[in-house]
Amino acid sequence: IRTQVAIIGGGPSGLLLSQLLNRAGIDTVVLERATRDHVLQRIRAGVLESGTVELLREAGVAARLDVEGIAHDGFLLSDDDHLIRIDIHALTGRQVTVYGQTEVTRDLYEAQEAQGTTILHEVSDVVIGDLDQDRSVVDFTHQGLRKRLDCAYVAGCDGFHGVSRRTIPEDRRHAFERVYPFGWLGILAQMPPIADELVYANSQHGFALASMRNDNLVRCYVQVPQADRVEDWSDDRFWAEFLRRIPSQLARTLAPHPSVEKSIAPLRSFVSEPLRWGNLFLVGDSAHIVPPTGAKGLNLAASDVFYLHQALIAALQGRGMAGIDDYSERALARIWKAMRFSWQMTTMLHRFEGEDAFAARMRRATLDHLAQSETARRDLAENYVGLPY
Ligand code: FAD
Ligand code: DHB
Repeated sequence: IRTQVAIIGGGPSGLLLSQLLNRAGIDTVVLERATRDHVLQRIRAGVLESGTVELLREAGVAARLDVEGIAHDGFLLSDDDHLIRIDIHALTGRQVTVYGQTEVTRDLYEAQEAQGTTILHEVSDVVIGDLDQDRSVVDFTHQGLRKRLDCAYVAGCDGFHGVSRRTIPEDRRHAFERVYPFGWLGILAQMPPIADELVYANSQHGFALASMRNDNLVRCYVQVPQADRVEDWSDDRFWAEFLRRIPSQLARTLAPHPSVEKSIAPLRSFVSEPLRWGNLFLVGDSAHIVPPTGAKGLNLAASDVFYLHQALIAALQGRGMAGIDDYSERALARIWKAMRFSWQMTTMLHRFEGEDAFAARMRRATLDHLAQSETARRDLAENYVGLPY
């Protein structure tokens, strides 16, 4: 099979890149390891930066998002019973949009099918080669047959466990990493939102987050020890823990409902540099992971796609290689700022096992400063709503 850009991974990064390239008249083939249903069932991110929304509009996949997405002017932080509102709109003039990653992915699949793009599912044993040649190759197994894609460029959109990053020789890439000693246990439940806006709660019992998907679907999380398993957490245990971590004025009116989904995600900060190796470009989770506290994972994948789609379109239309040459540096500059923000939000809101009393006082002082200083709130809002591309 011949194509211009081979895309490894049919998650949000791969599909959005493919969609933007197709709309510019560039041919792509997407190789995805899982089934379409499997990709669509993963419950993940829920908050879109305004830049991500604009990029989805540019890709022509925002019709449903523009109707069903919920624009939020702000969010809440809490310190035990004390609530602090971050008025994103007043501080930055922008908003964030609550719209699940599941929905973004569904919209992208539908648009790609309408474009007639080749998306091969249940592909295995992907091997990427000839990255230093004029044309590169991607070998893979599909429906029991070994096949070959011949292409000009390869986009590695295959997530943290994919093959793309590992195709770069080990002595030519550098990893930067922090693993946090806890995970997030998340549930989805059919009930009205706990508050009008998201609540990021710091408490003496640990972190909790009250989020939502729509008027009758909530997504709630609690920080749990790294070794905990989903089986350890009945719905009753989840709600009891959640209720004691959010402010009592919110807990008082909350009527717990059974979960319809429950999963645990580990927390990690990770960056692999560089993002380019010959004709191969890493995008999204294949190159970097943030802890979810800043709601940056999906949004960072989108900004990588923004830089790379411009670079690939210019190169393939004969308008120069500057974007290709700058991709890694441009994307990393934004990635590191989101890394810093996500780390800062995580440190400000989580209890670290074995920590001393000093750490808890630092969290309280940081939150108290945010409550008092508009300058501090503006800095937080500017990062949360998303730094410019
Ligand atoms: P992915 O979504 O990981 O997509 C990669 C795709 O590549 C997958 O479909 C995978 O099946 C495929 N693939 C992998 N290996 C191969 C291979 N060898 N060959 C072919 N295909 C392959 N972010 C938030 O902001 N908030 C959250 O609450 C949140 N929760 C998360 C929970 C979990 C469990 C995880 C893993 C991530 C979470 N994230 C969250 C992060 C966010 O979901 C990711 O940043 C986002 O999915 C990145 O998109 P991606 O397309 O780069 O990678
Ligand atoms: C959600 C997840 C996040 O990581 C976050 O910071 C905000 C919301 C969510 O799943 O709704």
